This record gives sequence, C-alpha cells and structure tokens, in this order.
Amino acid sequence: TEMKKKFGNIVLCGYMGSGKTSVGKRLAELTGRTFIDMDRYIEQKEGATISEIFAARGEAAFRAMERETAKELSLKSGLIVATGGGALMDAENTAVLKENGVIVLLNASMEAIRKRLSGDSSRPLLNGSDREETLQRLYRERMGVYRAAADFTVDADGCVQNVTQRILKTVN
Ligand code: S3P
Repeated sequence: TEMKKKFGNIVLCGYMGSGKTSVGKRLAELTGRTFIDMDRYIEQKEGATISEIFAARGEAAFRAMERETAKELSLKSGLIVATGGGALMDAENTAVLKENGVIVLLNASMEAIRKRLSGDSSRPLLNGSDREETLQRLYRERMGVYRAAADFTVDADGCVQNVTQRILKTVN
C-alpha cells in the first residue's frame, strides 16, 4: 500500500454529487498529479455527453465503456481519478483500479447530495418521474458497496477545500 500511495493512482469514489470531480481537481492542483474524470474521459472519446450515450446506446454500452476506461487508467500512474457513481458497482472495475491505486470514498449524506443535485439533469439515472425515490434507492444500494471497495473513507459533506484537506491527511 505504501508504494501504491506514493506512485499509484488516487481513485475517488462515491455517490453522484458527492464531490468527486471538484475535489479531484483541487487535489490534483495541490499534489501535481493529473486529474482524470472517467465520465469526461468517456465523453471525449465518444464525442458525446453521458446523457447522449445513455439515450443512443443504452446503459449497458456505457458500462462497457466504463470497464474499458478503468483498465486504461490502471495502466497509468500518478493520477487522481474521479470514478462515475456506478463504476465500482462492478467488482472487476474495483479490482482493476486497486491494482494500481488506493480508493478513497467521499462519504456524503443524502441531504448534502440532494442539495447538490437539485436542478441537475445531467444524470440520466435520475431523470425518471420517480427521481427522489430512485435517488434514495440507489444510495441505499450503493453506499455499502463503496465502503467495501474503499481503502479510506472521508466525510464529504463539507466544502471542497475541507474535503480535499481530509483526503491529503488520510492518504499521506
Ligand atoms: C452514474 C453516475 C454518473 C455517470 C452516469 C451514471 C451512476 O457519474 O457515470 O450518469 O450510475 O451513478 P457521477 O457520479 O459523476 O454523477
């Protein structure tokens, strides 16, 4: 783990809206590591937004792109990786990312997440008519999986700056 911490990737996981992207960017600035957001990486590769990919190709196709991305990124080092909220629901992705990195869970409360995602329409999974119900169900289904996957967990209800500092303390 010592070697992975120093030279491998720092992989941020957590629910949609837990702050993986904003914290990851800040963390990259402070550590000199390169920031990669899996969703943005896939969007660039496909020349389409996540919403467009879900609409045109379906979720299964997106999950295949995610698996491909996890493999590609685990071959690189010195990255901060923001995973998509569903990426670690596939145990194989977790294993692949752990091969060359430590996984940090951004543990945000349902209340903080609800606030951060209010008015957001970029998450196709939450765009159905039963948004609140889906938000809570996925949260219940996923938090345990994230916890089991994570090497470290940090409270992610605070501001970007605080969460970033917590991660730096934890992984250093
Ligand atoms: C998803 C989360 C999204 C994105 C896609 C599916 C999920 O990423 O990958 O909409 O299954 O939780 P964020 O966690 O960055 O919102």
